[in-house]
This record gives sequence, structure tokens and C-alpha cells, in this order.
Amino acid sequence: MRKPLIAANWKMHMNTGETREFLQAFLPQVEGVTDVEIVIAPPFTSIAEAARLMKDSNVRLAGQNLYWEEKGAFTGEISPLMLTDLGCTYVIIGHSERRQYFGETDETVNRRIRAALAAGLKPILCIGETLQQREAGETFNVLRRQVRDGLNGMEAEDLVIAYEPVWAIGTGKTATPEMAQEAHAFIREELGALYGEKAGSVRILYGGSVKPENVASLMAERDVDGGLVGGASLKPDSFARIVRFREQN
Ligand code: PGA
Repeated sequence: MRKPLIAANWKMHMNTGETREFLQAFLPQVEGVTDVEIVIAPPFTSIAEAARLMKDSNVRLAGQNLYWEEKGAFTGEISPLMLTDLGCTYVIIGHSERRQYFGETDETVNRRIRAALAAGLKPILCIGETLQQREAGETFNVLRRQVRDGLNGMEAEDLVIAYEPVWAIGTGKTATPEMAQEAHAFIREELGALYGEKAGSVRILYGGSVKPENVASLMAERDVDGGLVGGASLKPDSFARIVRFREQN
């Protein structure tokens, strides 16, 4: 049984004051939710404040990225140990915005995932095709490469995958539940080729314009085990409604 995981990706939003306001409104709305794992990935500068307010809550913290060295002369970077030191248990790796704007490749994604696991952080590996790749019939090839190269040399361990079609991120265009299921089933098959039966316990999240209105239909699909939510996670009421997707019809 895979416990659903709903994760907020705040991207470059939410200063410390906004983080405080958000959590003061959000935490009471999800208090007592135990059948869904809730994760928030604030920007690095708000993690400490979030950790303080979330200390005794049922919400876990994630970093949005990390660098693979433990420490050293790497100006501007954040190490896995710095994230665990602040209380993070998860870390998002290889988000399409990082691949698109910051030159990340499957190879650097792989190094980051190894470093995260070595530090005891659970990576959320983001993969997904662009519109051009989808229209060229390349979707499965792209997903296969991102899974195989991103996970090269690693055991299944505590891994989460987020399938985020790039054309659905921040655009309001959500993949249909059927499209998401098709991609998730393919990803699970690929994981099966790598890890055998263990692939059945890896959670595969869907990301790309997840909203309170569409989350339940996505979650109804067999291989959709949660969501990675950007825009709709910035408002406490909307993110709480997504977390409580089971209460909607
Ligand atoms: P979105 O972002 O929900 O705003 O589309 C999702 C993501 O990039 O993780």
C-alpha cells in the first residue's frame, strides 16, 4: 500500500513573514490528517522559520535542490547536511526549471540523488517531457532516459518520482487523468526493470497545474500516488483542500 504524498513546491516565493502567515492558517486545517503524507518545500531562506512553526506538526520539510558535496568552496550552494541540519527529510531534485534555466542534466541529477540518499534525505526526482517532445512522439523515450540515467547505479531505497510534463507546469493545462496514468504506468514499468518488485512501493507523484478542482480525479488513477503542487500550494486554503482530496466528490 502506497501512502499518498502531497508536496508543495513554493519555488522562489514566500519570505519568512509570508511563510509564518501561511503556516498559521494552514497547519490547523490539516491537523489530524494521517492518511496523507504532507510535505512543504520552501525556499532555502524560509526553511528555518518553517521548521520552527512545523516542529510538532504532521507536515514534513523539503529542500528544493542541493549540491552534492558536503562542504567546501562552492559559493552559493547548499549541501545535503545543511538541509538535514534544518530538519528537512525530503529534497526535490531535477525540477524542470532547474534543467531548463540552470543547466542541470541527468548526470548532475544523478549526483544529487546519490548525495541526498547518502545524507538520509529522500529525493523527489522530477522528470517529464516538453510539449515539443510529446508532439514528436518522444515522451516515453525521454522518461526512460531520465529514469535510467537519473537513477544510474542506485538501489530503489527511499525514492519518490514526480512526473511533471513541462507543458503542464504553471500553464493551467493539466494532463488528463488518463494521460497521467499512462505515463505513471510506464515509469513504474521502467522502475520494475531496474528494481523488480520493489518498484511497487515507489511513490509516483503527478505535477503540473494540480488544483483543488482536479486533484481527486488524478488521485483516482491506480499509479498516481500523490501530487507536487506549485501555484496552488501558495494559498493555505487551496493547499489544504488539495491535501484533503478524499473529502471531495
Ligand atoms: P504548478 O507547478 O502546480 O504551478 O504547475 C508544479 C511544479 O512545478 O512542481
